[in-house]
Amino acid sequence: HTFFSTALPLSGKRALVTAGPTYEAIDPVRYIGNHSSGKMGYAIASRLADLGADVTLVSGPTVLSTPAGVKSVSVTSAAEMLDACLANFAETDITVMSAAVADYKPKVAAERKIKKNEGQGFTIELVKTTDILTTLGQRKRAEQILVGFALETHDEQIHAVEKLQKKNLDFIVLNSMRDEGAGFAGDTNKITIIDQKRNIESFELKSKAEVARDICTRIIALVQS
Ligand code: CTP
Ligand code: CA
Repeated sequence: HTFFSTALPLSGKRALVTAGPTYEAIDPVRYIGNHSSGKMGYAIASRLADLGADVTLVSGPTVLSTPAGVKSVSVTSAAEMLDACLANFAETDITVMSAAVADYKPKVAAERKIKKNEGQGFTIELVKTTDILTTLGQRKRAEQILVGFALETHDEQIHAVEKLQKKNLDFIVLNSMRDEGAGFAGDTNKITIIDQKRNIESFELKSKAEVARDICTRIIALVQS
């Protein structure tokens, strides 16, 4: 507790960040997943820690290493990510839900490896996962800051505003998959931030570290308001 650490804008604040994909088991060797690299969420966790926050990163499977000064909790499935978030949320001042959570999971995960059959097709029955962000939005207290993402390919802003309201967020970070260089795998991203007052701020294509700075600047503004 030096003079310098207490002078940081988010010192004394607890942050929860989710990142990466979730894997939903089909059988012991197979899963349903997505192409999220986790880079955006890790960059946000790193930046929040640099700003003085006490950061817990709940991460799905990624190849990334935990940023300096961040506490990491590894999870695999959406259900595990929900549990880890619920275990931390009540004590959290700032939550950023950047994980690419599966919307559906296999109704049953087979206990043994599924063998090929004689037919040409194979059907897996899927059921919805719990929407983690909606669940947190329902529990959110007025002083807690809740930030979500929206990944869209069409009617981007309409869908993002719907998610902002439905999930009870302070602001939503829209990732349009139409933008060159934006999205899951790369090192750059192009975002638009929409807040509760319907202010729309569109940013240039930037490195994910710079995008994390922009998102955290908005968080600091909310903390100080
Ligand atoms: N999210 C979540 N739990 C889920 C699905 C999504 O917490 N089971 C969160 C994501 O982390 C993201 C936000 O909800 O912050 C929006 O995710 P997105 O996939 O864009 O929207 P959905 O509400 O899942 O709707 P859809 O995929 O149909 O567009
Ligand atoms: Ca989704």
